[in-house]
Amino acid sequence: MEALLEVKDLYANIGQFSILQGVSLSVQKNAINVILGRNGAGKSTTLRTIMGYVRPLKGTIQLDSTNLSNLTTYQIARKGIGYMPEDANIFANLTVEENLLISMPNREARTAKRLSDMRDLFPDLTVAWNRQAGTLSGGQRQMMALASVLVSQPNLVLIDEPSKGLSPLLVERIGDALVQLRTETTIVLVEQNFFLAKRTGDYVTVLDDGQTVYTGDMQALASSEDLLQHYLGLQLQTKDGMGL
Ligand SMILES: Nc1ncnc2c1ncn2[C@@H]1O[C@H](COP(=O)(O)OP(=O)(O)OP(=O)(O)O)[C@@H](O)[C@H]1O
Ligand SMILES: [Mg+2]
Repeated sequence: MEALLEVKDLYANIGQFSILQGVSLSVQKNAINVILGRNGAGKSTTLRTIMGYVRPLKGTIQLDSTNLSNLTTYQIARKGIGYMPEDANIFANLTVEENLLISMPNREARTAKRLSDMRDLFPDLTVAWNRQAGTLSGGQRQMMALASVLVSQPNLVLIDEPSKGLSPLLVERIGDALVQLRTETTIVLVEQNFFLAKRTGDYVTVLDDGQTVYTGDMQALASSEDLLQHYLGLQLQTKDGMGL
């Protein structure tokens, strides 16, 4: 197993609050690396710290042989890391295609191919391709936000709760896209929807109170009643699986 990104013992404050207090994360190549944890556990802050929006106080963030901890967000993105935040910004009065084009600063001959790859990946977006983004459904919006990150072909994609607020059918479609992407890139997926995490995840890291409390294979966690109960307060019998 080869880690593409290695986060070790990360500490970070927001204002005077200690938010991350020992986050470690080993991101495996061409795999879906899920981060789980209750509300407020520090999942989004971990992604924001990797991207350089939050400065770590302590700890290391290593991408291959490069230490990212002292780089700016722009420099980090230039290393080939894509980031889809919670509530990603979109340009409401531009079409889907224009939104995607705007997120590709270096246009070249392959631009058309990359756009058509996104249409293949997200059939639900294709039907709205020339509509203004402000008129999209919640699911189409999330797909467009994800496509805007993927269209630049990042080596590593950090995705923060793509299923948020979506119907079970659209969560399935997002899952389909994630599974297809695994062969092309490496994914860090923050999720509260346990079924999506279980279906797509290869590896999992559980955060609690700003710390890594569990790390291992997704299937090992998902099939163990004891581990689920202990780390996530989840019952295996739970049918809805929404929210942790
Ligand atoms: N700007 C901020 N100012 C103060 N506290 C913050 C700020 N942003 C986050 N926090 C706190 O940091 C902790 C971790 O927040 P974070 O958003 O990383 O959690 P999360 O695991 O992503 O939660 P959720 O599942 O709700 O998205 C929370 O207690 C939150 O209240
Ligand atoms: Mg969050």
